[in-house]
Amino acid sequence: MAELTGLAGKTAIVTGGADSIGAAVSRALHSAGVNTVIAARSADKGEALATELGEGAMYHRTDIGQDDDLDNLVAATVEAFGGIDFVVTVACVYDDAGAQTSREQWHNTFNVNVTGGALLVQKALPWLQQSSGAAVVNFGSISARVAQADRWSYPVSKAAIHQLSRNQALDLARFKIRVNTVSAGITWSVPVAGLMQGNRALADEVVSQYQPLGRLAEAEEVADAVIFLCSDNASFITGIDLPVDGGYSALGPEASVSCMQVMGMAAEAAK
Ligand SMILES: NC(=O)c1ccc[n+]([C@@H]2O[C@H](COP(=O)([O-])OP(=O)(O)OC[C@H]3O[C@@H](n4cnc5c(N)ncnc54)[C@H](O)[C@@H]3O)[C@@H](O)[C@H]2O)c1
Repeated sequence: MAELTGLAGKTAIVTGGADSIGAAVSRALHSAGVNTVIAARSADKGEALATELGEGAMYHRTDIGQDDDLDNLVAATVEAFGGIDFVVTVACVYDDAGAQTSREQWHNTFNVNVTGGALLVQKALPWLQQSSGAAVVNFGSISARVAQADRWSYPVSKAAIHQLSRNQALDLARFKIRVNTVSAGITWSVPVAGLMQGNRALADEVVSQYQPLGRLAEAEEVADAVIFLCSDNASFITGIDLPVDGGYSALGPEASVSCMQVMGMAAEAAK
């Protein structure tokens, strides 16, 4: 990708930054010269990734559902690196049972997917305000805009993130803090690999019906969008959603079936 500016020497917090897409975001930011704080619950994975990345990377044990953890995360980041320039809210739960989703699952989903990230931005705000070139990237989803069978709490939480991001973009513009969302398509990640029992070729085949580019996204492709939105190359972009979905969001109900051809064949058959 073309060289991005405005990243080196800055500091980012990445929630859920130890796994899958979050780990790719942590790696991409760090390789662009950003001090990267991996805010995750799993100490094993978080510490291993911080050690792998080396200087300028730090793991901080964080449950984003806990206010104390968020306070400690902000304090530890500022103590280590002197400020905060970017907040990337990747952490999520897929705690969804469709029509059977319990009140507890609804609360857990919103607490992690929406409230945790919103409160982290609130707590980081005094530091973001002091940055020249601050940005927030929230993780939306392709699932936020269309109905997907048997999913209630997760896509609704993601739709809430899109609205939250628009409101944050408006309110934080006065501080020159930009806020955008990235909407990943179906991406090779821990949950998707789990569903597909590790069968990448089969996953690509299944997903090619929904993603016209014919495969899953790579976590690194999603991470590239995040670092672009953090960089000065996106200096006049705020309040948008950037889909990284191989064309998923361009499809209508006919998917890639040629409607004209199908209607023509039906008319022929009816003769
Ligand atoms: N994988 C996909 O196909 C896909 C598609 C669209 C959007 N997304 C979005 O991308 C992001 C990453 O998804 P993923 O598939 O890599 O998921 P993942 O399950 O691999 O990663 C989510 C991370 O969030 C962490 N997490 C959960 N609860 C937490 C808490 N209370 N505190 C701190 N961390 C917590 C998990 O431990 C995990 O590391 C999510 O926001 C998801 O909605 C993913």
